[in-house]
Amino acid sequence: MRVLFVCLGNICRSPTAQGVLQQQLFQAGLAERVEVASAGTGAWHVGKPPDARSQRAALARNYDLSAQRAQQVSVADFQHYDFIFAMDRSNLADLKRLQPAGSRAELDLFLRRFDAPVDEVPDPYYDGDAGFEQVLDLIEHACQGLVSELRGRL
Ligand code: 4NP
Repeated sequence: MRVLFVCLGNICRSPTAQGVLQQQLFQAGLAERVEVASAGTGAWHVGKPPDARSQRAALARNYDLSAQRAQQVSVADFQHYDFIFAMDRSNLADLKRLQPAGSRAELDLFLRRFDAPVDEVPDPYYDGDAGFEQVLDLIEHACQGLVSELRGRL
């Protein structure tokens, strides 16, 4: 199975989701069975590592995002991935515009699918540290639901 997380810049929310899911899959013994990646709808940060604030907040919970580099989502991703999860409605709308007919990937709003208290991961880029903690809280919770779903499908 292949999972792609998408946000706007691919330096805050989706790299966090990639790191959290990879770690949870590792702990569940499923790391070899699921490919996980992330991308941005925008291209401003392509090639850059995740935002220092995201890296710091993630590392405090033992998720190492340092090896990740930002990339932009492409039309080919809709054939490669089984799931493409958008972090907010604006990302979802952009992805729907890009999605080709006959797309292999199931496209959804990440939190909506996994019963979170809210259905968007708020953009923390212009926020203080609390925003980055909230991103982690929401993503950790939803990834637990995703690991269960993936386990059922493998
Ligand atoms: P992300 O956050 O979409 O979670 O990576 C953002 C990063 C950069 C920008 C916006 C959001 N930006 O405008 O550069």
